[in-house]
Amino acid sequence: MQIQATGLILHCRAGFESEVAAEVLARCEEHGFLGVVHSQPDTAIVRFALHDAVPWQSLLAITPFADWIFARERHAWIGSIADLPTQDRAGVIAQDLAVRGLRCGRVICEFADTNAAKEVSGFLRRFTPHLEKALSRVGVLTPSETAPTLHLFFDTSAACEIGLSAPGDASPWPMGVPRLRMPRGAPSRSTLKLAEAFYALMSEKERDKSLRAGLRAVDLGAAPGGWTLQFAQRGVHVTAVDNGPLSAEVLATGMVEHRRADGFTWRPPKPVDWMVCDMVEQPARVAVLMADWLVKGNCRRTIFNLKLPMKKRFKEIAHCRELIDKRLREQGLRYTLRMKHLYHDREEITAYLTLI
Ligand SMILES: C[S@@+](CC[C@H](N)C(=O)[O-])C[C@H]1O[C@@H](n2cnc3c(N)ncnc32)[C@H](O)[C@@H]1O
Repeated sequence: MQIQATGLILHCRAGFESEVAAEVLARCEEHGFLGVVHSQPDTAIVRFALHDAVPWQSLLAITPFADWIFARERHAWIGSIADLPTQDRAGVIAQDLAVRGLRCGRVICEFADTNAAKEVSGFLRRFTPHLEKALSRVGVLTPSETAPTLHLFFDTSAACEIGLSAPGDASPWPMGVPRLRMPRGAPSRSTLKLAEAFYALMSEKERDKSLRAGLRAVDLGAAPGGWTLQFAQRGVHVTAVDNGPLSAEVLATGMVEHRRADGFTWRPPKPVDWMVCDMVEQPARVAVLMADWLVKGNCRRTIFNLKLPMKKRFKEIAHCRELIDKRLREQGLRYTLRMKHLYHDREEITAYLTLI
């Protein structure tokens, strides 16, 4: 049975609903999927309702998950179940999904990342094991690496929305929320941003190849040293460029050389494997600098932050992407560029740019 999608459900940081709305409309309209966005400020959820239903795989295929910027997670929206009884909710959901002919390899029960949804999250922690059993009993859930993932989104414990994503085409973490531990000796929470970026923006193969002991990195705008520490703890030597002080614990790793210099003009004497940049500056200025490092052969890959303007953020990011594209293509360089509003990002996004 071909399962139809009636739209998309997208998770984001509360306060960024209008960025997701701009993104989903731009992406869907470009592919001729017309519809309307339903979103309320600070709900951390955006719904896109199609005018005409389409096979769920074709809707997700317009943009692989890795290419979404403001959506932390997204899935095809295939229906809703309302008025769940307080007794045997799991049985009712399982029956409903069985009648729809749904088969999945994994189920994720989701809620919005807001304070208001804390109660639902507590309910789901207790409810999910019962639901998994009920879904297995009716043959909807059969553990598999290749079958779709079922997303059940709960606004309250009395109703849920049903979604699907393809394995490998979703966030590595439920609802796009990573649970990362602060590394010992970390001088700032921003260390988690780079840790998340390594997982959210790079494949396992890319990580294995480029996060190895003995490599060299430059960190522009490094102080107090949270990003530098991520490399140092992986055995990567770092030149940390910043006029501000680095934390004593970061320096004590023995892997770090501190340069008091301007990150916009300083360049390494020899090419390095990595450059990362967390300087607070105009996003277009940072984008041009990143492309220039690659063009001049100063590094092969970079992770950087683009601080967001107050308005038209999706448009500003598209502009930064164009600046990078123009510069690299003029030089005949082929590249991969991935951008995401990470869980640990606030008024910025994080990007990974590498030559291929
Ligand atoms: C957000 S903080 C970096 C935090 C760092 N990534 C961490 O994890 O600890 C931004 C840093 O950029 C530095 N910065 C801003 N403009 C700079 C420039 N032109 N050259 C060098 N550093 C700069 C600031 O001194 C500040 O320490």
